[in-house]
Amino acid sequence: MEHTEVMKPQTLDDLIKILHKIFESDSVNVEEVQNIMESYESNPQEWSKFAKFDQYRYTRNLVDEGNGKFNLMILCWGEGHGSSIHDHTDSHCFMKLLQGQLKETLFEWPDRNSHGHMVQKSQRVLQENQCAYINDSIGLHRVENVSHTEVAASLHLYSPPFQQCQTFDQRTGHKNTVKMTFWSKYGERTPFVSIIIYGCL
Ligand SMILES: [Fe+2]
Repeated sequence: MEHTEVMKPQTLDDLIKILHKIFESDSVNVEEVQNIMESYESNPQEWSKFAKFDQYRYTRNLVDEGNGKFNLMILCWGEGHGSSIHDHTDSHCFMKLLQGQLKETLFEWPDRNSHGHMVQKSQRVLQENQCAYINDSIGLHRVENVSHTEVAASLHLYSPPFQQCQTFDQRTGHKNTVKMTFWSKYGERTPFVSIIIYGCL
């Protein structure tokens, strides 16, 4: 029987190195990536330089561009901050909790014939170090920091990288295409971003 060694990343840099190695291959082993992201034990000293919070909305902060194969970023959620319902542009999406808790609500794709309310499939609360996975065949989701006293931070990996996605109105199922921007890149605040459109993760 073939034995697969599970590599446990000791630091965030170590995790990034392992991810680069894994994504040299053209096929993505979802379970392997999920396990490795989950096995990294969050250490704020390693990632706090990327974690830039805004008072009003959650922020997207680029950490690594994965040799063009993936984007790795940290999302910073203030108290009560949440996303729209959104898709993932046919990419893989991994989401690991670095700090706090996030509520993930899963929705069905809106049916062409069913006008109105979007159908909720499930809901769960992600805990620190847990790593969730979603793609368009699983459905759509909304992510929220429902806490009014604690902030949250999450590490996201998207492969292949994408720059726009669709957001959905929960009441009508109507969709909008939105372009995504970074609040910071490699720990530096992104200049000249005058209009930031939020919604997607
Ligand atoms: Fe998402």
